[in-house]
Amino acid sequence: MTAPSLHISGDLQLGAQTLCPALDLTCPAGQWTVLLGPSGVGKSTLARLIAGLPCPAHLTGGITASDGLPLDGRVTLMAQTDQLLPWASVLDNITLGARLRGQRPDPARALDLMSRVGLEGFATRRPATLSGGQRQRVALARTLIEDRAVVVMDEPFSALDAATRAAMQVLAATLLHGRTVILITHDPLEAARLAHRAHLMQGDGLHPLPLPATVPPRALSDPATLSAQANLYARLMQVAPA
Ligand SMILES: Nc1ncnc2c1ncn2[C@@H]1O[C@H](COP(=O)(O)OP(=O)(O)O)[C@@H](O)[C@H]1O
Ligand SMILES: [Mg+2]
Repeated sequence: MTAPSLHISGDLQLGAQTLCPALDLTCPAGQWTVLLGPSGVGKSTLARLIAGLPCPAHLTGGITASDGLPLDGRVTLMAQTDQLLPWASVLDNITLGARLRGQRPDPARALDLMSRVGLEGFATRRPATLSGGQRQRVALARTLIEDRAVVVMDEPFSALDAATRAAMQVLAATLLHGRTVILITHDPLEAARLAHRAHLMQGDGLHPLPLPATVPPRALSDPATLSAQANLYARLMQVAPA
């Protein structure tokens, strides 16, 4: 699988309201593009548009792939809410995509991913019996099993404790190597660890954010990572709430 780069252009419109004007965003092939920004600016809306899902907003430009092919079937979205089916087991939730498409699920792969996200032995549990962080890791496994060229993750680690979050960041960076990833996060340290490129999305448009010159994933203890985190924090503190 060769992941394309994406180009996203135009104003992000919600009816007559411009959420974010003049997008001109390139998400390079095989790299992590990270979006930060205040609540309500349209990050999740943009994520849904990239994934081709129904959405009340639209882009006046468009979303194109560098290989000129449609994005249909090549994008998966890990949404901001876990969207687990309450009546289905953890295993059935993780293999839901295949079953919805009428394909044979791959339970061995699902069990392997469950083990990697720390949910070994949870196959028959229902979502209601899980903590928020456990539910989020089911959703992560459901995203990873899709094995798509383009992966959009909307605050994927927000419910995790610090140690689990750090481990899941490394897991995602490893398993999504070579994919074109768009990550939405409020966590400057997460952006500093994972981003090849980072942008601040706010009401007046997208702004590039400074990052270390090194290749992600960056070690938590790397002074360059911590310095980037501090710089990102300082930049985010200048943004008024939406
Ligand atoms: N289904 C919807 N119908 C109408 N407005 C929506 C809907 N979903 C989101 N919005 C509005 O779109 C704007 C952007 O929301 P969202 O993309 O969720 O922001 P973010 O993810 O950056 O916090 C907000 O003003 C929100 O109220
Ligand atoms: Mg959101």
